[in-house]
Amino acid sequence: MADWESSQHSKEDVTCSVCHGEVHQGAKDSKLALLPDERLCAACHEEQFNQFAKGKHNFGWTSMNALPVTHVEPDQLMEGGRGCGGCHNMGIKSEAQKKDQRVKGYRYQNNSCDECHTRHSFSKKEALDPKACQQCHMGYDHPQWEMWESSKHGPRYCVKERGKLPKNAAAPTCQFCHMPDGSHTNRTAWGFLGVRLPLPEDKQWAADRVTILKALGVLNPETGEPTARLEAVKAVDLVRLTEEAWRTEREKMVNRCKQCHSEKYAREQLAMGDSIMQKTDRLLAEAIEIVAGLYKDRIIKKPDNYAFAYPDFLYFMQTGGSYIDQVLFQMYMKHRMRTYQAFFHVNPDYAYWYGWGMMTKDLGEIKELAKTMRATAKLEKGGH
Ligand code: HEC
Ligand code: HEC
Ligand code: HEC
Ligand code: HEC
Ligand code: HEC
Ligand code: HEC
Ligand code: HEC
Repeated sequence: MADWESSQHSKEDVTCSVCHGEVHQGAKDSKLALLPDERLCAACHEEQFNQFAKGKHNFGWTSMNALPVTHVEPDQLMEGGRGCGGCHNMGIKSEAQKKDQRVKGYRYQNNSCDECHTRHSFSKKEALDPKACQQCHMGYDHPQWEMWESSKHGPRYCVKERGKLPKNAAAPTCQFCHMPDGSHTNRTAWGFLGVRLPLPEDKQWAADRVTILKALGVLNPETGEPTARLEAVKAVDLVRLTEEAWRTEREKMVNRCKQCHSEKYAREQLAMGDSIMQKTDRLLAEAIEIVAGLYKDRIIKKPDNYAFAYPDFLYFMQTGGSYIDQVLFQMYMKHRMRTYQAFFHVNPDYAYWYGWGMMTKDLGEIKELAKTMRATAKLEKGGH
């Protein structure tokens, strides 16, 4: 109630019944109240709705459900709204998706807009604060909050907020770089998985990316041909599939940096992010090939739900069920993510100590484990 009273809506006669319907009159018949999805907001905020619908947040729920891991982890972590489902709850849901959640006995969340403008204040000021992104953009595989907060950019914003710098001092927020001019369409050039098409010209890098795409299950490890999973990846816009799609997002970003830095400086900084990606891919591909060798020699057995006898990143920590697979997964999902994301978010510590340094350590551990596993397998064979 206090939240609603504080909102623009209360001043504009957008009352409870405008959003929740007329049928419900009090606490006793609360079941009759309509829980409004984004389409209701669209009636008055068509522009933001349309922008949102074209952005990546609109794929949150669908892309989570597209992953094989989703179907082997407990429902509480998905439909229940903790774990994956706690952050991937954005996206305009179809009736079928809502029904799926109801059938499983969970109360589905209807509305994405209140992830940044929490109900019932529905405030623009709240959504403009980087803290509005913190709940989801943090932690294990995407510590953008931590990286921004401890880069040059974040502290400057915080100092400014405390009144120690003039109000118009330059300090970029997440929103400044990722929601330019208030746009609700969000998408970046590299995206989350840090892979894209077409393949790079450099031969070694192209080969390394192919190896990674095999471990993502979008290329058949035996033939190199695209698998059915590539279609699922396309459907939720998981990676940029053409040079043009990538370039469009990159240019948008350069335009942001240009508001405060020279264009040349901005391009150099971003290009450095791209070239560290190439170096992380070399380390990762080497590690994938070592583990793939263990599958090939049947030292690791193919799990029943795997399509191929090859590492499969999209089973997350469930990968292979073997420890070496988990170290490999961590190398990709935790340490490679941190290395390149830190370049783009200008964070020294994440780039080296939490990122590159740890990838090197993972590779060392994988080599050591593989040696031991091969030696053990040889002993066991000899013993029979
Ligand atoms: C601008 C539209 C809007 C207005 C106005 C509005 N609500 Fe809501 N309300 C929502 C949305 C959106 C949700 C979340 C629906 C979901 O995600 O399932 C919600 C959820 C609720 C819930 C259930 C969840 C919770 O937070 O406990 C209650 C109860 C509720 N509103 C009461 C009210 C009352 C009382 C008023 C008037 C003082 C009001 N609402 C005005 C949009 C609105
Ligand atoms: C019946 C029309 C109507 C509906 C439905 C409606 N709004 Fe609004 N909303 C308004 C008006 C009018 C304003 C004030 C003028 C403006 O900023 O456009 C407003 C303002 C806002 C603002 C800006 C507040 C600020 O601090 O400046 C946000 C954010 C917002 N609405 C979100 C929502 C969301 C989310 C929903 C759906 C849950 C919703 N609105 C549903 C009419 C509506
Ligand atoms: C703390 C919130 C949070 C949790 C928990 C979480 N995710 Fe995410 N996930 C995100 C965010 C934020 C992104 C986007 C990160 C980026 O682009 O750097 C993302 C990205 C993804 C993507 C890539 C989407 C794309 O198109 O780029 C997939 C797929 C995914 N998550 C699946 C899962 C699964 C499955 C789980 C549970 C095992 C999970 N996530 C747990 C917040 C979360
Ligand atoms: C990822 C966070 C996020 C989500 C999700 C989000 N918004 Fe916003 N919204 C913002 C930010 C940030 C602003 C301020 C933009 C600016 O002025 O630079 C904003 C501004 C607005 C405004 C005020 C526009 C103005 O300038 O007066 C409205 C209305 C609005 N959003 C509606 C919606 C609706 C409807 C949805 C769901 C379809 C939604 N928002 C989802 C972050 C979000
Ligand atoms: C409720 C959790 C949540 C909140 C709050 C949230 N995000 Fe996200 N964000 C996600 C998830 C999940 C994804 C990946 C969506 C998908 O599966 O495609 C994502 C994706 C993104 C992407 C696209 C990355 C890519 O792949 O290109 C950007 C940029 C982004 N968010 C920025 C923001 C900003 C800025 C804010 C705050 C204004 C914000 N987000 C608030 C969960 C959230
Ligand atoms: C100074 C501008 C800037 C600020 C501030 C900023 N980012 Fe980014 N962000 C970038 C750049 C540049 C990329 C990489 C774009 C590319 O792929 O070319 C990126 C990428 C991302 C991605 C996609 C995956 C990745 O590479 O990390 C997400 C999600 C994201 N940022 C979220 C956030 C969040 C949340 C905040 C605030 C806590 C934030 N960003 C602050 C510039 C910024
Ligand atoms: C709103 C203004 C603003 C925007 C936009 C912005 N920056 Fe900055 N940036 C700053 C300020 C202010 C500093 C601190 C300057 C100093 O060290 O004296 C800074 C510092 C930096 C530094 C040096 C960091 C260090 O540790 O010394 C790099 C690199 C950088 N920015 C890259 C970028 C990139 C890349 C983009 C675009 C993705 C970007 N910036 C966008 C304001 C901005």
